[in-house]
Amino acid sequence: MTTNASHKLILAIETSCDETAAALIDFSDGKITVKSNVINSQIKLHQKYGGVVPELAAREHVKNIVPVIHECLKDGNIKTSEAKNIITAIAVAAGPGLVTSLVVGVETAKALSLAWETPLIPINHIEAHIFANFISNESINLPAIILTVSGGHTNLMKLDPTYRLEMVGQTRDDAAGEAFDKAAQLMNLGYPGGPIVSRLAKEFLMTSGANNIKLPRPMIETQNFDFSFSGLKTALLYQLQKDKDWQKRIPQYCAEFQQAVIDVLVFKTMKAAKKFSIGTVMLAGGVSANAELRTQLKASCEKAGLSFHMPELQYTTDNAAMIGAAACFRQETGLHNIIAKPNLEI
Ligand code: KG4
Ligand code: ZN
Repeated sequence: MTTNASHKLILAIETSCDETAAALIDFSDGKITVKSNVINSQIKLHQKYGGVVPELAAREHVKNIVPVIHECLKDGNIKTSEAKNIITAIAVAAGPGLVTSLVVGVETAKALSLAWETPLIPINHIEAHIFANFISNESINLPAIILTVSGGHTNLMKLDPTYRLEMVGQTRDDAAGEAFDKAAQLMNLGYPGGPIVSRLAKEFLMTSGANNIKLPRPMIETQNFDFSFSGLKTALLYQLQKDKDWQKRIPQYCAEFQQAVIDVLVFKTMKAAKKFSIGTVMLAGGVSANAELRTQLKASCEKAGLSFHMPELQYTTDNAAMIGAAACFRQETGLHNIIAKPNLEI
């Protein structure tokens, strides 16, 4: 394998929340290819607590980080003894996230960088969700409007042709994923709520009945590009409290809740593309796994003549391939300049 200017082989590490992940990314002549992608998810461990327990997450990362990296190298057919000669950079999520989780990945990356004398590239986890769009996809025309919807963030940004991001609008309270999780909690459905609400909503959508449950579309009429989802959760709570039979109509509540979130997200994204005369729309973040959101945003973009991109399903929720993809567009830094930052901003 040659290492010239147009070729990079990046080992990427992600430990910002409850997934211990490592990936090998090949970047050759502008093309990003995933050579291996290992994810050790702790969801089962945290499920019984109804959310991520930071102390437990950190302990799991410590236990799993070395085996996950080892497996990742093995899957990519790289012998540990050869890694230092083949890998051109190490990328790691430096924030935002849970600091006790982040430090495990960051310190491991620093140790490898020191031992292998390999450059280190710190990556913003939210940016990485966006760059997941560029995996095996060289046809994205910039500038683009990006809708990022995850468990901790919901925002609209512009990505310019030099790969710089500019904030256009963001949530004033709960993130979209958090809203799904809290809605699921109100109906005792389990954690994480997004996939469960989405599955139950599908059950209702497969019946032909109209939905007579109505929830608000918060901030849809405002002039800005900000979002607010905590009122939607409260509106759901009040409706459940008024409805003695709500347990018989859970799929219906899920469908309306999901549609309320999607209506606001799609409307504001389309409005931003129009206002800034931008011809490309991209979707990113864990909630971009939502099938209805994918379908409806795509349809709106097609109708408006905009080109639309979304990550492959396997790269929507937390993974290290997206960290490696982002590293293809970001600069390396000195070993001592990288620290885990729980509130790292774009
Ligand atoms: O990006 P992510 O994996 O982690 C963060 O960086 O936050 O996003 C996790 C969030 C959770 O809130 C989860 O409920 C939500 O993404 N999510 C979904 C779906 N799959 C995951 N929300 C709606 N529909 C889904 N299918
Ligand atoms: Zn994430």
